[in-house]
Amino acid sequence: MNSLLKKAPPSIIALLLQLAAFALAALTLRLLAFQLPPLLFGLYCGTLAAMFSHFAGLARWWLFIQFAFAPALVLMLALNIPPGFFLAAFLVMLVVYWSTFRSQVPLYLSSDKVWHALETKLPAGQPFTFVDLGSGMGGVLTHLANTHPQGRYLGIETAPLPFLWSWLRIKFGGYRNCAVHWGSLWDSDLSQYDVVFAYLSPVPMDALWNKVRQEMRPGSLFISNTFAVPGHPPQETLTVDDLHQSTLYLWRM
Ligand SMILES: C[S@@+](CC[C@H](N)C(=O)[O-])C[C@H]1O[C@@H](n2cnc3c(N)ncnc32)[C@H](O)[C@@H]1O
Repeated sequence: MNSLLKKAPPSIIALLLQLAAFALAALTLRLLAFQLPPLLFGLYCGTLAAMFSHFAGLARWWLFIQFAFAPALVLMLALNIPPGFFLAAFLVMLVVYWSTFRSQVPLYLSSDKVWHALETKLPAGQPFTFVDLGSGMGGVLTHLANTHPQGRYLGIETAPLPFLWSWLRIKFGGYRNCAVHWGSLWDSDLSQYDVVFAYLSPVPMDALWNKVRQEMRPGSLFISNTFAVPGHPPQETLTVDDLHQSTLYLWRM
């Protein structure tokens, strides 16, 4: 049970802790024969859920979400919003974020300053292949395809809406040297590429490093935006003067 919980995504653990908090709150009030107005009951559940989450070792930002969840639920129910609205919001989130609850890699985009920094790292004056693992809305690909047309660019994206958006962008933007596949980066063969780019999250970096080391050809270049690989210092780093002061980590295989 313990190891099952350790393997579970934080979102599932958070949900289980919410249920446990609700059960404990309801039970204690029943035993004390005490009733609380809905908002106070929500705050009570939220406090318990945040405490449980702290002891379960969830990241600190989860504590706020866990505390606010039940009171927010009470407030939203009081607004009498038609249930179709929540279904629509859920469906939009689903097509944009897809399996983020499991992968822990949400959609956020590299800045255009990162795109410009990437330009300086592409092989000069010769054809090459480039892959963006988790290509989001296709901005990295289409920008580089414009500035360095001698390259061939592939994006791999798992979330339906970003995939569709980038597919349309490439198709109707007339990018002949660019394509995007709907699928998982874990199914890609990295030996096909001269440059592999990733902007993911801290969570998959260990596993991605193993894949990179097993599959990438000697002499090819792996670039990670923002997320380093623990225990494997890059040969080069590039700090980009954008909003987040992004860092590019570069490894030559
Ligand atoms: C932080 S965004 C980066 C977007 C783009 N590469 C950029 O730099 O602007 C990460 C993207 O990876 C996608 N993603 C997460 N896990 C993935 C997987 N296993 N296979 C393919 N894409 C994945 C997410 O849906 C998201 O669009």
